[in-house]
Order: sequence, then structure tokens, then C-alpha cells
Amino acid sequence: MAGSTLVIKDLHVSVEGKEILKGVNLEINGGEFHAIMGPNGTGKSTLSAAIMGHPKYEVTQGSIILDGEDVLEMEVDERAKAGLFLAMQYPSEIAGVTNADFLRSSINARREEGDEISLMKFIREMDKKMDLLDMDPDMAQRYLNEGFSGGEKKRNEILQLMMINPKIAILDEIDSGLDIDALKVVSKGINEMRGSEFGCLIITHYQRLLNYITPDFVHVMMQGKVVKSGGPELAQRLENEGYDWIKAELGIEDETVGQEA
Ligand SMILES: Nc1ncnc2c1ncn2[C@@H]1O[C@H](COP(=O)(O)OP(=O)(O)OP(=O)(O)O)[C@@H](O)[C@H]1O
Ligand SMILES: [Mg+2]
Repeated sequence: MAGSTLVIKDLHVSVEGKEILKGVNLEINGGEFHAIMGPNGTGKSTLSAAIMGHPKYEVTQGSIILDGEDVLEMEVDERAKAGLFLAMQYPSEIAGVTNADFLRSSINARREEGDEISLMKFIREMDKKMDLLDMDPDMAQRYLNEGFSGGEKKRNEILQLMMINPKIAILDEIDSGLDIDALKVVSKGINEMRGSEFGCLIITHYQRLLNYITPDFVHVMMQGKVVKSGGPELAQRLENEGYDWIKAELGIEDETVGQEA
């Protein structure tokens, strides 16, 4: 089976009547790792919310197509079932639902009836992945994200990623709040996913993460658009020089959404 393709064309998204995304174009294929960088408040998390179908984010123009299927026509659960996955910048806590139960139902919700993962297989897989991510086995029976430290939440997002095995994943600031060891562990988990059937969009502020996960493409977002794309060297240059040179090159004064001159 060949990898999936997610094509985003001229995407405009409004939140509460205010336009945040103003024509995003992006294509992610199976086997590719893309990084999106960009200053605060330029629309990166809005892009991920719109792809996953967050009800607050209204698509007013443009398209999102996964393997020829119109993602905008799909409900949130259908998007997940179609192979999309989002690790959120701020994962939510769900009291009363254990991490293991949540994971198992997430996996089964993406499978056909009668094809559910067996409990034995699930536990075996989960143990293996938790071990790889250096997670305390007790985490499986704790309520989802409740009282998890910042780093534990991020590790847990990667555990979900590895267990769910989506076609295209969006990882929103998966490196924020991680200590150096956790950063290495999380990167190891993401790198394990590499393969022709998996495409990934990594939203990050820091080249540091990209030292461990080499992106094939790097994009810069400003004013609700992808304003520049390149290879890994682009992230390196941003680390060294910041964003001013891009702003100068493109004649942008204020890079945030809604402030364009
Ligand atoms: N639900 C919302 N309600 C109101 N405004 C929103 C909402 N979501 C996003 N915005 C606004 O849209 C703009 C872009 O926000 P977004 O979270 O996409 O930025 P970002 O690029 O992810 O920033 P950061 O790097 O700080 O995470 C901001 O001005 C933000 O306040
Ligand atoms: Mg964000």
C-alpha cells in the first residue's frame, strides 16, 4: 500500500468571525516529514484545529483533501478514521477514563466492527511502546492526562501516535516543556514511525527538535499563510538569524494574524 496524500489548498479559516488563516497551501505525502515554524500567533495551531475539524474553526474558502476524499465533509471521528491524527499543543484531561481504555477505544474506533484489537495484543503493544518511550507502567491505569506533568503529557501523545498508527499526523509543539532526555525519547518515538505510509507535520519553535528529527521540508507561517518553504537548512537559518530577514524579504511589518499592513 502506498502512503497517503493530504493536500491543503487556499485554506481560509475564521474563528468567531475573524479570519485567521488566509490562504494556506501545503501538501504532505506518506514518507515525508514537514516542519512548520513561525512566530507566535501566526496561525499554526489554527491550521491543525481546522484539519481535525474543531467546531470553532470555520473554513470559509479552500479545500483539504486526503487521498481524494474531501476532509471538510467529514465529521471529527470520520477524519480520525480516515487516518488523520493530531497531538495537541495543550492535551485535555479526561477524568474517569484511564489512559489504557482511552487508547484502546481510540484504536478500535478507527477499525471496522468485528476487527477490534484483542486485549492481549493491545497490552503487548502498549507495554512495548511505553517501554520505548521510557514511561512508567503505572501511567496506563491513570486517568487520561489528569495530573500528568507537561513532559508526561507529551510522551503520552506520542504513545497515542504509535499505538494508533495514523496515515498523517500533526504534532503541535510536541517539544514544548520537554527536558533534554524527554526530547530525545519523544524524537525516538516519532522517528520509529518513519516509513512510506506515514506523513507528519511537526509544528515547532525550535531547531533543537529538528536536530533529532530531520524534516524533509520546512515551512514558515506568518499572517495566516505559509510564506516560505525550504529544506532543513531553512530551520537552521531561523535558529541563527530569527525571522527578521524573512520579514524584510517579504515586506512584512507585523507577522501576527490580523495586523497586516
Ligand atoms: N478559539 C479562538 N478564539 C479566538 N481567537 C483565536 C482562537 N484560536 C486562535 N485564535 C487567534 O488566532 C491567532 C492565531 O492563533 P494560533 O493559536 O493559530 O497561533 P500559533 O501560530 O499556533 O501561535 P503559538 O506559536 O503561540 O502557538 C491568534 O491571534 C489567536 O488569538
Ligand atoms: Mg500554537
